[in-house]
Amino acid sequence: MPEIAYINSSFIPLEKAFVPINDRGYLFADGIYEVIVTRNGKTFLIQEHLERLQKSADELLLKLPHTLSEFIEIIDQGIKKAGFNETMVYIQITRGIEPRRHNYSADLKSNLTMTFRPHPEYDPQLIREGVAIITVPEIRWSRCDIKSIALLPNIMMKQKAVEMGCQEAVFVTKEGIVREGTASNIFFIKNKILYTPPADQHILGGISRNYILQQAAAHGLEQIERECTLEEILSADEVFITSSTVDLMPVIKIDETTIADGCPGPVSKIIKNFFPTVPTIMRN
Ligand SMILES: Cc1ncc(COP(=O)(O)O)c(C=O)c1O
Repeated sequence: MPEIAYINSSFIPLEKAFVPINDRGYLFADGIYEVIVTRNGKTFLIQEHLERLQKSADELLLKLPHTLSEFIEIIDQGIKKAGFNETMVYIQITRGIEPRRHNYSADLKSNLTMTFRPHPEYDPQLIREGVAIITVPEIRWSRCDIKSIALLPNIMMKQKAVEMGCQEAVFVTKEGIVREGTASNIFFIKNKILYTPPADQHILGGISRNYILQQAAAHGLEQIERECTLEEILSADEVFITSSTVDLMPVIKIDETTIADGCPGPVSKIIKNFFPTVPTIMRN
């Protein structure tokens, strides 16, 4: 019996199933999943799994394409069609398929895929004799210096910013330390000194960020890379964000606070001119 997939509302052989390149699960890990197994041919704890699926979907504001009883029906059909003694059902629902950009369309349809494969048995010797394990640092997910596609927090917060009529959302720790934007680095200027958070594991070391630091140094602008608090950024003379798609974007308001006189400042304009081109649309 072949392994099968459920894709575009039909069952097909697993090897014929492909995911579109613009699926947000593929692009951003913007999706949820569950694994349900059978015991004696029947799904085990399926209600609990589907309730957790619903909870994950609710937390991510992701619309499930089916009711839980419809899911049970599709899963039962798949298990029958696959015909294994014991089945491992993998369910994945992504936010949907559309050209890559962090925020998503309000009417985007979620994309459901499932696979039905034999449930592998554990080696009974391992169960009998036990196993060894190791400890590792808890880094889930504190490696923002890696340009990973695990961008779920970024896209959630970008979406929030866009829905509030803003360009970007900037991550701030509970201690009030400012890290970076969802897809940009942040700088501020106070008394003609350029400040930006250090390129440690808390931020992505932006190529534009480094370019600005190099250019600013070459033009004699004093610069300091250190932890920056929200408090000092709110009272800065100028604030801007940077990324490869935007170069430099002046920030004139953060939450309810207007920065300085609410206009792009002179130093930001000079730094903007370090870039050879002037894109006007921020795409990500
Ligand atoms: C989280 C994050 N920080 C910063 C940046 C800016 O990096 P760069 O200037 O290399 O585009 C990006 C760009 O995508 C980003 O995703």
